[in-house]
Amino acid sequence: MMHATHTPPEDWHENAYDLVRGIAAYSGSAVVAGIGMVIAKHRDADIANAFNYKQVGCKIWARDKLLESAGSAFDRIAVLGGWYGILAAMLFEDARFSIGAIDSYDIDPAVEEVARTLNSAHGDRFRAITADMYALDYRTIGADLIVNTSCEHIGDLKRWLELLPSGTRVLLQSNDYFSEPTHISCVSSLEEFQTRAGLAKLDFAGALPMKKYNRFMLIGTV
Ligand SMILES: C[S@@+](CC[C@H](N)C(=O)[O-])C[C@H]1O[C@@H](n2cnc3c(N)ncnc32)[C@H](O)[C@@H]1O
Repeated sequence: MMHATHTPPEDWHENAYDLVRGIAAYSGSAVVAGIGMVIAKHRDADIANAFNYKQVGCKIWARDKLLESAGSAFDRIAVLGGWYGILAAMLFEDARFSIGAIDSYDIDPAVEEVARTLNSAHGDRFRAITADMYALDYRTIGADLIVNTSCEHIGDLKRWLELLPSGTRVLLQSNDYFSEPTHISCVSSLEEFQTRAGLAKLDFAGALPMKKYNRFMLIGTV
């Protein structure tokens, strides 16, 4: 007997959109629904890379250790080098936290609209802002937690940290993935990351081994 045949769409976006919308409906996840909207609306966004298994693993690790070492309540979190706003979306969705607002800053103007689409479920509790993290006035942005999981992408970690008012709580991630060309500032060990950051108070320092590299994280205050 002949089976009805279906010609699959050639464009990966259509396949991914169908699948992700199905997973969003099944799981009830606002993050997954947001990724579906990004696939439909921002065809140039590198969302498959940003939400791959390793990226998600690093961000789940960040959430868990943040909760353990800094508690669950934040009025306003600023994420620097926030890319497509995935960490913000994952923090909003995590019911263990009580978060007033999250601002995601990135120097690349192309990511602002994508981050907004991804976090559209959160209305004005989420803002995406195009800015160079070295050019911000950290006394006026009003954040009680500063997150930077893009430390491997910035030229001078110490110079950036010196812009933050002393006593500011920070969560920082870097890695030893030297072979990736956009990683201009990797560290070879957790100890090197600690030395470069020179935090005044350290609440957590750890390494998460991935297949090709290690991710390092520091939580503390400047
Ligand atoms: C590839 S992404 C993030 C990778 C990281 N593993 C993560 O998901 O957190 C790095 C981001 O840092 C941003 N970035 C680099 N230099 C910056 C700066 N001076 N100010 C703000 N954003 C910056 C880039 O535009 C990019 O979107």
